[in-house]
Amino acid sequence: MAATTTILLLLLAATAASAADLSVYHNVHPPSPSPLESIIALARADDARLLFLSSKAASSGGVTSAPVAFGQTPPSYVVRAGLGTPVQQLLLALDTSADATWSHCAPCDTCPAGSRFIPASSSSYASLPCASDWCPLFDGQPCPASQDASAPLPTCAFSKPFADTAFQASLGSDTLRLGKDAIASYAFGCVGAVTGPTTNLPKQGLLGLGRGPMSLLSQTGSRYNGVFSYCLPSYRSYYFSGSLRLGAAGQPRNVRYTPLLTNPHRPSLYYVNVTGLSVGRAPVKVPAGSFAFDPATGAGTVIDSGTVITRWTAPVYAALREEFRRQVAAPSGYTSLGAFDTCFNTDEVAAGGAPGVTLHMGGGVDLTLPMENTLIHSSATPLACLAMAETPQNVNAVVNVVANLQQQNVRVVVDVAGSRVGFAREPCN
Ligand SMILES: *[C@@H]1O[C@H](CO)[C@@H](O)[C@H](O)[C@H]1NC(C)=O
Repeated sequence: MAATTTILLLLLAATAASAADLSVYHNVHPPSPSPLESIIALARADDARLLFLSSKAASSGGVTSAPVAFGQTPPSYVVRAGLGTPVQQLLLALDTSADATWSHCAPCDTCPAGSRFIPASSSSYASLPCASDWCPLFDGQPCPASQDASAPLPTCAFSKPFADTAFQASLGSDTLRLGKDAIASYAFGCVGAVTGPTTNLPKQGLLGLGRGPMSLLSQTGSRYNGVFSYCLPSYRSYYFSGSLRLGAAGQPRNVRYTPLLTNPHRPSLYYVNVTGLSVGRAPVKVPAGSFAFDPATGAGTVIDSGTVITRWTAPVYAALREEFRRQVAAPSGYTSLGAFDTCFNTDEVAAGGAPGVTLHMGGGVDLTLPMENTLIHSSATPLACLAMAETPQNVNAVVNVVANLQQQNVRVVVDVAGSRVGFAREPCN
């Protein structure tokens, strides 16, 4: 409750900088000056997220459809959005690997406490019928086979499993307000009931920033020309100056772009061609083909805003760890903490001397991670950990995921129309 109050106060104090420039807030409260423990706690939800990212497309009747993502973890970053007429303020979590936007909607006795949209109070809300073109995209139930021609068509209804819970939702449309922009007739899911515990359920709604047909980019067409960027503030930050910037105007010029790869089985995801890693100046020696992109299996590398800790497949992580440990050479060796297995005593090794990690990508882009994204320090003990991990064992994962911890204080520019994604250093704490 205290956390919710804090964030609401901050949101009320904030003003949108321009039409399509929204402040981005993290969900870690209180912000920790040495957030190792809070990151480990946050990253517990990564396994479910990775399972979702690595799952292949479901196919039915010869038609391949991607799993409809409703976010698979409590969200890490949120923006303030408005919905309806008169406008209702909501917090929506950013999800670059999901297309659908949704909100908890009143009445909903079983939804978690938190921001909730009241369709009945909005004059511009419309519920979308089962015959709507959007309905199959949201995996909604088809219209009943026999239907009294004079009766109105039922609303498009759908149900989604989420962690140990399930949502029941209906499809609607209303005016979505982002900054000073108003997007009329935006299709979104209205969650009306939750079955099961709500502990693991996000309290906010979700803003689908993927590249599939239901996403913000697809629904806004030429308004933003398929371009947005974000800068995620560090979990350490109290000041929340991260931002989500929609449209090509105002994007930085010093951006290095790498081509996006398209996986038709997972049309939401932002795949890039990572070709190698370096630790300091030394290239990491991974087995040949370790980074290969394969749409059929889902193998490759995805840039994701919702996973906390960057994960590499087993052979890649083993090689990265070996090179990192070789260079750090901690006298007392390495210990594990949560998802991290390469933690060392900073009394013995000057952490400032630890090497940086660089991602090499197609198009000649080398992204050297900010040091604070490479090494995470404990507040309680003289301990620092390499802030990346191997894909968890229970996930049949072939996909590498570049996660939000490693994207903090970097502006990530997504240009779907230009089929590229770019990076520029930008302190946004
Ligand atoms: C990724 O980059 C490598 C090296 O330039 C290239 O050989 C490979 O074909 C690229 N993969 C894709 C899917 O573009």
